[in-house]
Amino acid sequence: MKCTILGSVDNAPAALLTLAKQFQLDFSPEKALPFQLIWQDNALKLLQTEIEKQGPIWVDFSSPQSEYRRLQVSIKKEAIAKAVGLKAGKRPRVLDATAGLGRDAFVLAALGCEVELVERHPVVASLLHDGLRRALIEASVNDVASRMTLVHQASLDYLTQVANLEHDLKPQVVYLDPMYPHPENKKKAAAVKKEMRSFQHLVGADTDADHLLDAALAAAQERVVVKRPDYAGVLDGKKPSHVISAKKNRFDVYVKAKAN
Ligand SMILES: C[S@@+](CC[C@H](N)C(=O)[O-])C[C@H]1O[C@@H](n2cnc3c(N)ncnc32)[C@H](O)[C@@H]1O
Repeated sequence: MKCTILGSVDNAPAALLTLAKQFQLDFSPEKALPFQLIWQDNALKLLQTEIEKQGPIWVDFSSPQSEYRRLQVSIKKEAIAKAVGLKAGKRPRVLDATAGLGRDAFVLAALGCEVELVERHPVVASLLHDGLRRALIEASVNDVASRMTLVHQASLDYLTQVANLEHDLKPQVVYLDPMYPHPENKKKAAAVKKEMRSFQHLVGADTDADHLLDAALAAAQERVVVKRPDYAGVLDGKKPSHVISAKKNRFDVYVKAKAN
């Protein structure tokens, strides 16, 4: 769906011009578009004009919520940590092939993992890039942000490149959290957060999600973890090695057989 930066190139700040160039985002004075990017308080923010009372969506790794999350995370409490295989003394390198706004990656990086975040959508990638830029100069989160690296590319291509690397250079874990269509069931649909729904309208369905699993398995040294809503089937019809259940999601874990 079309999304431009509200305003004009002529009075845009340098940081915004850099972002626009890097992610090939256009400027437009048009206010009636359903999605618009704005520059506010030194940050890039996304507005969805059609949803009433919805505040801007942006990436802020030093917000009170992120701060709370960062201080509360522990290997024992986080289902994602168990799924990814974190243990005392073990912090796998993770390739998050569906980075989105980087929330899951932030949890893993807060727990000490190096995380490569791959995102193909230019608007989402620009929001994430801008959030990381601010986090890197914010004392409370700069060590976490320094473990997060963004790659703006389609994951199928990127995973294919990674699969050709020497074994030791591959990530131990590939993490997938593709968009899942809204459930038909009304109660479940209501439970899909408003922000997530607007995000789905912007990026659309991930129609290649099933193909990501084989590519991820070829790229990972040890395992692939797929986050799914509790009502969704397994990716690509493939049965996982085991499943870790969380409140509204589950993590399907595909453990690779060890090479002899
Ligand atoms: C459900 S969101 C991920 C949310 C993320 N786990 C988080 O914690 O913020 C899915 C994201 O993956 C991206 N995506 C889906 N398929 C992709 C692909 N093949 N390559 C790169 N990005 C992809 C979508 O653009 C979307 O931003």
